Amino acid sequence: MIIGIPKEIMPGEARIAASPETVKKFIADGATVLVEHKAGEGSFYFDEAYKAAGAEIIVSAEEIFNKADLILKVKEPLFNNEFNKHEVDLMHPGQYLITFIHPASPVNHEMVRQLADRGVISMTLDGIPRISRAQNMDALTSMSTCAGYKGMLLAANAMSKFMPPMFTAVGSIQPAKVLVIGVGVGGLQALATAKRLGAVTYATDIRPAAIEQAQSLGAKVVDMGIPAEMAIAEGGYAKDLPEEWLIKERAKLREVLKDMDVVFLSALVPGKIAPVLITEEMVKEMPNGSVIVDISIDQGGNCDITPAGKTEVKHGVTLIGIKNIPGMLPTSSTWMFSNNVYNLVKYLVKDGKIELDRSDEIVDSILVTIDGKVVHTGALEAMNKQ
Ligand code: NAI
Repeated sequence: MIIGIPKEIMPGEARIAASPETVKKFIADGATVLVEHKAGEGSFYFDEAYKAAGAEIIVSAEEIFNKADLILKVKEPLFNNEFNKHEVDLMHPGQYLITFIHPASPVNHEMVRQLADRGVISMTLDGIPRISRAQNMDALTSMSTCAGYKGMLLAANAMSKFMPPMFTAVGSIQPAKVLVIGVGVGGLQALATAKRLGAVTYATDIRPAAIEQAQSLGAKVVDMGIPAEMAIAEGGYAKDLPEEWLIKERAKLREVLKDMDVVFLSALVPGKIAPVLITEEMVKEMPNGSVIVDISIDQGGNCDITPAGKTEVKHGVTLIGIKNIPGMLPTSSTWMFSNNVYNLVKYLVKDGKIELDRSDEIVDSILVTIDGKVVHTGALEAMNKQ
């Protein structure tokens, strides 16, 4: 099997889908690996390291797309300005693609249909189910870990005050108060980071299990008073709250926010748009110099006025809506991502070839296009709604 690793073409994307370490493992498993020239530079993985791992360095992305049986990428296929062609048009029938496709997102519908028309067998990493046996393939969880840690560092950096307590010759300074809203994977990592930086931490979530984990990290709990049956769906996931309960949640948060130096927003119900938990009025009442980091921005954001993809000061509060936070930690995020992808490929390959057992839960939930058709449930639902 020939595995192709093209350079990511989204502006500012520093990650790459394979590290020299995973290239070495693919080759030990019997694959040939083609890596585009300079594709790992943004993550500080250089061509020499890939060569030493046994990869062939290829100058043209077109050649990689031509020769590979399986393309591994980080981002969905995009328009390649260098060739004046879309990456989908560089692909051929029967070729496999594994990357983050986000197939339900309306901006990707046309691209997903094109993948099907081309006969590409595409699989999306955002479809990996959160079940124990898929944990080591779960790139979304890895990226949330990166976003939680780095997002909290961005908050500490943007704050106008110290985060830890300071005992100085001119007096002592109280530690910052940090509230994390939505303590799933990203939120828990953000909490742990704030704690290490010396802040006093507070947490809220609608799932009691998440609250317990936050408590075990030393956070004080802000209780939203939402009954568990209202908040938890099948499988233990959070449920979309009805608007009347969101209004109650916002009312509780309004009081707490007046006292917070950092608010970290990572609340999400899988597959939905992010619930709006903070309104402009609530931002106005926050202390001057405080910071909001809204990592749910890709799903619309948990704060009404987070600037998408940017950082801005509004009403004396710094609002951080940066989108690709894991890309700001490129070596670690690439290391985690490439190991997740390696584990997935290893799971799918039998006797040197990819074999898709569509009755398997993991395969079923990642498969986007096959046999010329779009088969991803979320994508089909979203396409039919349009
Ligand atoms: P997760 O599903 O592990 O956690 C989300 C948490 O929000 C859950 O614990 C859930 O119970 C909670 N929640 C849902 N509705 C709530 C409500 N009304 N009030 C309070 N809590 C509520 O998700 P994960 O993986 O931690 O991701 C969090 C967010 O970070 C997502 O929006 C994800 O897309 C985003 N993300 C952003 C990145 C970036 O670069 N900006 C990178 C990676 C993830």
